[in-house]
Order: sequence, then C-alpha cells, then structure tokens
Amino acid sequence: MSINNIVESVINRVSVFKNRSVLDRSYIPDNLPHRENQLAMLAELFKPIITSPGTVSITALLIGDVGVGKTVTSYVFGRELTKIAERKGIKLKYVHVNCHSARTLYGVVQSIAASFSLTIPFRGLSPREMMLIILNHMKKNDMYALIALDEFGYFVRVAGNDAIYFLVRLYDEYPEAEKRLHYIFITRNLDVLGILDPATESYITKHIIKFEPYKASELFDILKQRRDLAFYENTVDDGILKFIADVEGYDRGGKGNARAAIEILLRAGIAADYEGSQKVFLEHVRKAIGEINEELLVEISDNLQFLQLHELIVLKAIVRRLKKSSEAYVKMGDVEEEYRYLCQLYNIKPRKHTQVYEYVRTLKNMGIINSRTSSKGLRGRTTLISLPIPLEPFEKRIDELIDKRVLEEAST
Ligand SMILES: Nc1ncnc2c1ncn2[C@@H]1O[C@H](COP(=O)(O)OP(=O)(O)O)[C@@H](O)[C@H]1O
Ligand SMILES: [Mg+2]
Repeated sequence: MSINNIVESVINRVSVFKNRSVLDRSYIPDNLPHRENQLAMLAELFKPIITSPGTVSITALLIGDVGVGKTVTSYVFGRELTKIAERKGIKLKYVHVNCHSARTLYGVVQSIAASFSLTIPFRGLSPREMMLIILNHMKKNDMYALIALDEFGYFVRVAGNDAIYFLVRLYDEYPEAEKRLHYIFITRNLDVLGILDPATESYITKHIIKFEPYKASELFDILKQRRDLAFYENTVDDGILKFIADVEGYDRGGKGNARAAIEILLRAGIAADYEGSQKVFLEHVRKAIGEINEELLVEISDNLQFLQLHELIVLKAIVRRLKKSSEAYVKMGDVEEEYRYLCQLYNIKPRKHTQVYEYVRTLKNMGIINSRTSSKGLRGRTTLISLPIPLEPFEKRIDELIDKRVLEEAST
C-alpha cells in the first residue's frame, strides 16, 4: 500500500465513536447521576444568594478522593445557580479557579479579575489592592460571585495561612459591607487544613459536603450516559460497561474513580478503532485498563514469579477460558475443568477441588485476578473470575513460567 493509501484507509475507516469529545476531561454532562444529594445540599446552602442577596457570605467545602465528581458537580451547580440568578435579575458570576494552575494568592486574585474581564493594569498592585478594585467593580455593577477554589489543599500548602485568611475572611474587616463573595472550596481531604489558624479552619469547614467513591452500579450509570452520547448504537454492549464498572467500583475493590472508568471506555474505543473492529470487545477493555494502569500491569507481572506450578496452571486455565468466552467472567467450575485438562496435557497429577479453590483465593489476594460470587442462579451461587489485563501477552508470560517450573521439578 502506498503511503497515501495507508493514511486514507485509516481516515476513512468507520469509527465506533460518533462524538468522542463527550469522553474528554473538559466535557460537562447535563446530568450527574448519583450526585443529586450533593447538588441539593449545595442548593440548600447557597439559597440566600438568590433569596436575600448581599446579606451573608456563604462557603462550602467539597471533600472526596480523585475522580468522584467534585469538580464537575461544582461546575454544574455554578451553571444552574447562575441561570436561576439571571432569571431573577441577579448578576451572579461563577468563577472556577484551579489552584494547581493559579498557585499563589496573586494568581488566584488575577483569575477572579480575569473572569470579570477587568482590564485595569494590575501590574505593581498587591493582591489586596487588586481585590479592592474587583470588589468596587462588583459594587458599582451590583454583581455577585461564587468562587470555586479547586485543588484548594494545594493552594493552602503553597500560599499559606495569611493568603487564605485574606481571601476568605475579608468581610471580618468590613462587617458592614455587602456580601458579594461566596466560596466553594474543593479538596481531597482535611489533612492540609490543619496548618491554618483555628478560626480560619473552622470558617472553611463550616459546611462540609462529602463525595464518596462510586460503587460499581453507580459507575455503570455514569458510563451508560457517556456511552449513549459518545458511541454509535450497538458498538458498546452493556457487558462492556459492567466490566469497567466492576474493575473501578469501590464495592468491588476498585477506587470508585469515574475519571478512570471514563478513560478506560475512551481507550477501549480507540483500541477497537485501531483494529478496525466494528464493536468494542472485552479484550479492548483489558488493553485499555493496562494502558491507564501501568502500575497494575507491573505489579501483576512482578507477582507472577512467586507463583507455584499449580497456581500458574490454574491461572492459565482462567486465561484460556476467558479467551474462548465473550463474557467478562468465567465460572469456577469451568476453570477447574480446564485446569484438569491442562494437567493431563502436562502429564501432572491434578490437585483436589479444595486445593484448586485455595489457589484461586491466593491469586485473588495477590491482586492478580478479580473474583466475585454470582447472584443466586438456578444452581446456587458460584465464584466468577475475571482478569483486568490483556490475555494474549499474559498467557505467553505464564507459559514461560510454567516451562521453567516444570523443568525445575524434573531436575529435583
Ligand atoms: N455523577 C457523575 N455523572 C457524570 N459524570 C461524572 C460524574 N461524576 C464524575 N463524572 C465525570 O468523571 C470525571 C471525574 O470527575 P471530577 O469532577 O473531575 O472528579 P474530582 O474533581 O472529584 O477528581 C469527569 O470527567 C466527570 O465529568
Ligand atoms: Mg477535581
């Protein structure tokens, strides 16, 4: 194929995506499944901005691990509140400052100024002087601001107590002033706030809204929303979403991180496109998981070397059954059957059921496989096993180790 043809054939290839940008980090969805409570709490808290503007300055602190929806919830709330304010003739601005990029008090105040499109030459002014100019501008135009300080913990660490004090307790100095500034602080945990003086700390922590890691069923709903918008119909089956949700779900031993789940879905789609596949398959997902979680891959490969011969054979049995299956999980009974078949092949006496079961538990505890108990079916409960990494290269590595162990055993 000529270079021209190669490029053209890739570009013309149909894609599983109809709108990939829906999976971008910057995309803000219309709805936030499973964050209704947090949104309602924010609304309750900031209600006075609408009902009695200027009377109180309100703060909220959003807390939770990475990828649990703190940033997006703040954005969505800001968007909705601004709309409502507009309808009531209140000039409210939502200002989202990422403290990772603003870093200093100067940077933060500058971001606030920029969002008001203030064009005064700020050079040479202190943050305090800048802030007074901003407040004057707001007063003159009868404006209000809801300022979200995202990655606030970082700001606290870098800018220190005085900067925070200045920013959030401005009104202590001017108790008569109309309250035009409101804050949403966003951070992963409370640890860093300990370096603040107690009064400032208690001011910031007055209203805490917690974001728990997502459960698998919740991630499934979030993924479903994105799937429907990002992919053509019938290119990503529910089973694919369920697999991703199970890997990341907090109740399944994952981190409950929606960002990671969405990223896996995106990369799985890219992997499918790359192969010219009309659908996203489980192996694409396993590949995607390996990409975003190199640590996991390394950890699993590291752990393999500690396995004994029979544990390796059980693992190979799992891989072989998964390869034959279109499901994310294989049943314990099928794995055992495959295990006995492999033992026959290697001319090794198979171990008993209870022992094989023990091997599976070891593999799970070492973080090599995922397993769970099926919901009660016709024949009662059974153990279901899955693997979060690409099967093809994995089986090769297992084969190498099995060969090595067999040789070792033969020479003893
Ligand atoms: N409830 C939800 N519904 C839809 N998308 C969500 C939800 N929670 C998180 N997301 C998405 O997951 C990703 C991570 O969320 P984000 O708000 O950045 O998490 P955090 O700020 O807590 O680290 C973003 O792409 C966000 O749009
Ligand atoms: Mg965030």
